[in-house]
Amino acid sequence: MTKDDFYQGLDSQLRSWLEGEHDYIANAANFCALVYHSLPDLNWAGFYLYKNGELVLGPFQGKPACVRIPLGSGVCGTAAQRRQTIVVDNVHEFPGHIACDSASNSEIVVPLVHTSKLLGVLDLDSPTLARFDDADAQGLNQLVEIFLAEAEIPN
Ligand code: SME
Repeated sequence: MTKDDFYQGLDSQLRSWLEGEHDYIANAANFCALVYHSLPDLNWAGFYLYKNGELVLGPFQGKPACVRIPLGSGVCGTAAQRRQTIVVDNVHEFPGHIACDSASNSEIVVPLVHTSKLLGVLDLDSPTLARFDDADAQGLNQLVEIFLAEAEIPN
Protein backbone atom coordinates (compact mmCIF):
# COMPACT_ATOMS: atom_id res chain seq x y z
CA MET A 1 0.00 0.00 0.00
CA THR A 2 1.35 3.46 -0.88
CA LYS A 3 1.36 6.26 1.69
CA ASP A 4 -1.26 8.06 -0.40
CA ASP A 5 -3.59 5.04 -0.14
CA PHE A 6 -2.84 4.77 3.56
CA TYR A 7 -3.76 8.41 4.20
CA GLN A 8 -6.93 8.10 2.11
CA GLY A 9 -8.02 5.27 4.41
CA LEU A 10 -7.20 7.42 7.41
CA ASP A 11 -9.25 10.31 5.94
CA SER A 12 -12.33 8.07 5.88
CA GLN A 13 -11.73 6.86 9.43
CA LEU A 14 -11.28 10.42 10.71
CA ARG A 15 -14.44 11.56 8.92
CA SER A 16 -16.44 8.77 10.53
CA TRP A 17 -15.04 9.58 14.01
CA LEU A 18 -15.83 13.28 13.65
CA GLU A 19 -19.17 12.98 11.87
CA GLY A 20 -21.92 14.80 13.75
CA GLU A 21 -19.55 15.95 16.49
CA HIS A 22 -18.24 19.50 16.45
CA ASP A 23 -16.56 19.85 19.84
CA TYR A 24 -13.06 21.14 19.09
CA ILE A 25 -11.22 19.49 21.99
CA ALA A 26 -13.08 16.17 21.73
CA ASN A 27 -12.36 16.00 18.00
CA ALA A 28 -8.72 17.00 18.53
CA ALA A 29 -8.39 14.23 21.14
CA ASN A 30 -9.81 11.58 18.81
CA PHE A 31 -7.69 12.94 15.94
CA CYS A 32 -4.40 12.42 17.75
CA ALA A 33 -5.49 9.03 19.16
CA LEU A 34 -6.34 7.85 15.62
CA VAL A 35 -3.05 9.14 14.19
CA TYR A 36 -0.92 7.82 17.05
CA HIS A 37 -2.38 4.33 16.81
CA SER A 38 -2.49 4.17 12.99
CA LEU A 39 0.88 5.54 11.89
CA PRO A 40 3.81 3.22 12.51
CA ASP A 41 6.90 4.40 14.34
CA LEU A 42 5.63 7.32 16.42
CA ASN A 43 6.44 8.12 20.03
CA TRP A 44 4.27 11.25 20.29
CA ALA A 45 1.33 12.81 18.45
CA GLY A 46 -0.65 15.79 19.58
CA PHE A 47 -1.70 19.40 19.41
CA TYR A 48 -0.36 22.67 20.72
CA LEU A 49 -3.07 25.33 20.72
CA TYR A 50 -2.39 29.01 20.13
CA LYS A 51 -3.49 31.06 23.12
CA ASN A 52 -2.53 34.62 24.09
CA GLY A 53 0.51 34.72 21.83
CA GLU A 54 2.02 31.32 22.71
CA LEU A 55 1.46 27.61 22.04
CA VAL A 56 -0.09 25.66 24.92
CA LEU A 57 -0.20 21.86 25.12
CA GLY A 58 -3.50 20.37 23.94
CA PRO A 59 -4.81 16.81 23.46
CA PHE A 60 -2.00 14.34 22.76
CA GLN A 61 -0.83 10.72 22.93
CA GLY A 62 2.59 9.83 24.28
CA LYS A 63 4.68 10.85 27.28
CA PRO A 64 3.97 14.09 29.17
CA ALA A 65 5.39 17.06 27.25
CA CYS A 66 6.43 20.66 27.80
CA VAL A 67 3.34 22.83 28.21
CA ARG A 68 4.20 26.24 26.75
CA ILE A 69 6.17 27.03 23.57
CA PRO A 70 6.76 30.65 22.50
CA LEU A 71 6.15 31.52 18.83
CA GLY A 72 9.43 31.11 16.95
CA SER A 73 10.82 28.55 19.44
CA GLY A 74 11.55 24.93 18.60
CA VAL A 75 10.05 23.14 15.62
CA CYS A 76 6.48 23.85 16.79
CA GLY A 77 6.98 27.57 17.38
CA THR A 78 8.84 27.95 14.08
CA ALA A 79 6.12 26.16 12.06
CA ALA A 80 3.46 28.26 13.82
CA GLN A 81 5.30 31.53 13.15
CA ARG A 82 5.93 30.67 9.49
CA ARG A 83 2.51 29.03 9.12
CA GLN A 84 4.30 26.30 7.18
CA THR A 85 4.63 22.55 7.59
CA ILE A 86 8.14 21.65 8.76
CA VAL A 87 9.68 18.20 8.31
CA VAL A 88 12.82 17.59 10.40
CA ASP A 89 14.85 14.50 9.52
CA ASN A 90 17.11 14.82 12.56
CA VAL A 91 15.84 16.92 15.46
CA HIS A 92 19.32 17.05 16.99
CA GLU A 93 20.40 19.20 14.04
CA PHE A 94 17.45 21.62 14.26
CA PRO A 95 18.56 24.84 15.98
CA GLY A 96 16.50 25.39 19.13
CA HIS A 97 14.71 22.04 19.00
CA ILE A 98 12.82 21.47 22.26
CA ALA A 99 13.41 17.92 23.50
CA CYS A 100 10.35 16.67 25.38
CA ASP A 101 11.02 12.96 24.93
CA SER A 102 14.63 11.84 24.51
CA ALA A 103 13.39 9.02 22.24
CA SER A 104 12.48 11.52 19.48
CA ASN A 105 14.80 11.70 16.47
CA SER A 106 12.60 13.11 13.72
CA GLU A 107 9.54 15.32 13.71
CA ILE A 108 6.83 16.88 11.56
CA VAL A 109 4.77 19.91 12.52
CA VAL A 110 1.67 21.05 10.61
CA PRO A 111 0.19 24.45 11.45
CA LEU A 112 -3.56 24.80 12.01
CA VAL A 113 -4.75 27.88 10.16
CA HIS A 114 -8.44 28.74 9.69
CA THR A 115 -9.62 31.84 7.81
CA SER A 116 -6.11 33.29 8.11
CA LYS A 117 -6.13 32.77 11.88
CA LEU A 118 -3.42 30.69 13.58
CA LEU A 119 -5.10 28.11 15.84
CA GLY A 120 -2.12 25.95 16.80
CA VAL A 121 -0.05 23.09 15.42
CA LEU A 122 -0.19 19.33 15.03
CA ASP A 123 3.12 17.75 16.14
CA LEU A 124 4.30 14.19 15.46
CA ASP A 125 7.56 12.72 16.77
CA SER A 126 9.34 9.52 15.79
CA PRO A 127 12.29 7.59 17.22
CA THR A 128 13.37 6.87 13.60
CA LEU A 129 15.56 9.35 11.73
CA ALA A 130 13.89 10.80 8.60
CA ARG A 131 10.58 9.09 9.44
CA PHE A 132 8.47 11.76 7.67
CA ASP A 133 8.44 12.78 4.00
CA ASP A 134 6.38 14.87 1.58
CA ALA A 135 3.66 12.19 1.40
CA ASP A 136 3.25 12.42 5.20
CA ALA A 137 3.18 16.22 5.00
CA GLN A 138 0.47 16.08 2.34
CA GLY A 139 -1.52 13.36 4.14
CA LEU A 140 -1.40 15.10 7.51
CA ASN A 141 -2.36 18.47 5.99
CA GLN A 142 -5.41 16.80 4.46
CA LEU A 143 -6.36 15.26 7.84
CA VAL A 144 -6.01 18.69 9.49
CA GLU A 145 -8.33 20.18 6.86
CA ILE A 146 -10.95 17.52 7.63
CA PHE A 147 -10.62 18.29 11.35
CA LEU A 148 -10.93 22.06 10.85
CA ALA A 149 -13.95 21.65 8.56
CA GLU A 150 -15.81 19.65 11.25
CA ALA A 151 -14.82 21.52 14.40
CA GLU A 152 -16.46 24.54 15.94
CA ILE A 153 -13.45 26.84 16.07
CA PRO A 154 -12.99 28.56 19.45
CA ASN A 155 -12.83 32.39 19.47
N1 SME B 1 10.00 19.07 19.80
C1 SME B 1 9.04 20.13 19.84
C2 SME B 1 8.46 20.30 21.22
C3 SME B 1 7.22 19.52 21.46
S1 SME B 1 7.51 17.89 21.75
O1 SME B 1 8.20 17.26 20.62
C4 SME B 1 6.11 17.09 22.09
C5 SME B 1 9.66 21.42 19.36
O2 SME B 1 10.87 21.48 19.15
O3 SME B 1 8.92 22.39 19.18
